[in-house]
Amino acid sequence: MGKHALPTGGPRERALLVGVELRGTDSILSLDSSLKELALLADSAGLSVVGESRQRLQKPDPKTYVGSGKVKEIRALAEETLADVVLFDEELSPRHQRELEKEFDEEVRVLDRTALILDVFAQHARTREGALQVELAQYEYRLPRLTRAWTHLARQAGGGAGRTGAAGGVGLRGPGETQLEVDKREISRRIHHLKGEIEKLRAHRGRYRSRRRHSQIPIVALVGYTNAGKSTLLNQLTDGGVFVANQLFATLDPTTRRAELPGGKAILVTDTVGFIQKLPTTLVAAFQATLEEISEADLLLHVIDISHADAAAQARSVIETLRDIGADTLPLLTAANKIDVLPNGKPAFPEAVPISALTGEGMPELLAAIENELYIVMVPVRVQLPYEQGRLISMFHEHGLVELEQHVDGVVKMEGRLPRRLAWAFKPYREDLEESALG
Ligand code: GTP
Repeated sequence: MGKHALPTGGPRERALLVGVELRGTDSILSLDSSLKELALLADSAGLSVVGESRQRLQKPDPKTYVGSGKVKEIRALAEETLADVVLFDEELSPRHQRELEKEFDEEVRVLDRTALILDVFAQHARTREGALQVELAQYEYRLPRLTRAWTHLARQAGGGAGRTGAAGGVGLRGPGETQLEVDKREISRRIHHLKGEIEKLRAHRGRYRSRRRHSQIPIVALVGYTNAGKSTLLNQLTDGGVFVANQLFATLDPTTRRAELPGGKAILVTDTVGFIQKLPTTLVAAFQATLEEISEADLLLHVIDISHADAAAQARSVIETLRDIGADTLPLLTAANKIDVLPNGKPAFPEAVPISALTGEGMPELLAAIENELYIVMVPVRVQLPYEQGRLISMFHEHGLVELEQHVDGVVKMEGRLPRRLAWAFKPYREDLEESALG
């Protein structure tokens, strides 16, 4: 994977972090928290952090992002700490990256948060679609950043994080083509191919999901900031051996398991990728699988790590992301996780169910709350159903409370209340959508 390749063995590479506070931008995370998160990311990617440097700026320098005095300072610090990599907390433009690399005499590599997140994602993608999505994002990130000094893809064939070796098999050079052009052509070809593969997988997943829909087992999707404890909770609820790690993005692909509610009814619990601030735009597509999974859920369970100093800001950013993807109309239940490490009695998130996914404390209450949301909370519904929708008519009778039923001109008008999780099926026939207490 070219120059972004991270070590797969041997001594850890040494990284120097650079954080910049831009005036006038109201980022959710403070510079402190952002750098802490970057350090955790670096660690997840197998780098060891040897120092950091910060700067407050009005706006980024067009050439080197940080000011020229700061560049000198960073170079000195890099020499002093024997850093192999200078890691910027912001996404650098291709030009910034080139200029900075020149400044550092190409002795140290310049990476940014995006390249790092891509690497961490590449290491953690477990399903074929996840791996393809990340590979695509890596190529799209790299294409505008290819420079002559770094183009010898063939040199790195088979190296790096493994998933990108294909570009190593660089095609034959056409007449008059430079190595750079060959590499660019090869990457473009690969991008095209990956998009096709992903499209095929997505179509397949759509078919699979609509089958699951018919089973009518309600789906609970776990959402939350990265490291909040979603995988641990999934294990606790379903005793099912999902990979858990104190690393960012241990979960990249949705994983679904079955759990049982106190009344004996089953639910499907699905884990989703952890949310994070400053998610690279190139990676938004890699979240597609997760996002689709979320919007298909009957209930979202928002897991908050209340032991984290930034819990409130993290929770806000999750809610914002949900709004961005239009999932804010889904019913949402909040769990305040990691109460085992909280000093006693600290009040936080009063509306949330307090739990410890690690010790299992609060699980009965959580399951009861899920059951309540799925089966007990009813929403008012007014529909006009054509006769051929007999399945919906009987579903209304079986699971809902029918207050009115009229047969007029080949349609059945029905009014009453339905469990919120079933109301989605009636959506095309709803007359009361503007009231929409549901999605
Ligand atoms: P991503 O995959 O990054 O989205 O993380 P996640 O939300 O799935 O978190 P995960 O379950 O991997 O847990 C992250 C870390 O928090 C692990 O070290 C867990 O052991 C720890 N953890 C999870 N729940 C609890 C809890 O209730 N108490 C304590 N003390 N630690 C917890």
